[in-house]
Amino acid sequence: MSDYLIAPSILAANFARLGDEVDAVLEAGADMVHFDVMDNHYVPNLTVGPMVCQALRDHGVTAPIDVHLMVQPVDTLIQMFAEAGATYITFHPDASHHVHRSIQLIRDLGCKPGLVFNPGESLGALEYALDNIDMVLLMSVNPGFGGQAFIPSTLDKLKAARALIDNSGRDVRLEVDGGVGVENIADVAAAGADTFVAGSAIFKTGDYREVVDQMRANLATVSRP
Ligand code: DX5
Ligand code: ZN
Repeated sequence: MSDYLIAPSILAANFARLGDEVDAVLEAGADMVHFDVMDNHYVPNLTVGPMVCQALRDHGVTAPIDVHLMVQPVDTLIQMFAEAGATYITFHPDASHHVHRSIQLIRDLGCKPGLVFNPGESLGALEYALDNIDMVLLMSVNPGFGGQAFIPSTLDKLKAARALIDNSGRDVRLEVDGGVGVENIADVAAAGADTFVAGSAIFKTGDYREVVDQMRANLATVSRP
């Protein structure tokens, strides 16, 4: 598989110089900006909103922006992030009373919808959603903080999600978020992921290009049945 996407999470970037940080990871070969939105309600932390997404666009960022909503409710912020230049907008199904409506709202606003599943949550909500979404995001840590350890049971869950996506025949990305780095990215890809969020593994190192290159080298060793 050649279309692996590496999506650095800005959560681990230096927020005082965010535009430069995003320029630097994209220059280093990353594909997409993962933009973590936390509301101190759905998760016990608080980050940034649509104004910061718009600021990145105004700064000149043209790469896809992958907005991961860890907020409740979701619909108002969906609208605001669509206007602020989001490419993907993903949300947690338990954060919306009307999951299908929220997915449709993202689509109608011209963005790519996705659903996010916490480590303790089954993939049940996918059954009637897979026809309408462009991304499945599996959390491999509990959402709210960067720098946590990858939860190993995510590998089996990735295999299950991969099978559902393949059976659907649709072009749906399978993204994994949390504790992903050079040392485990090949295992995560072998389990079925094609899109890799990495915060600390990239931003907490001195040389972004070296990490991204090493991730791609490790991905090149993966063979999937
Ligand atoms: C956690 C966020 C992640 C986080 C990942 O709630 O959704 O995107 O930034 O950070 P690392 O890669 O450091 O585990
Ligand atoms: Zn995230």
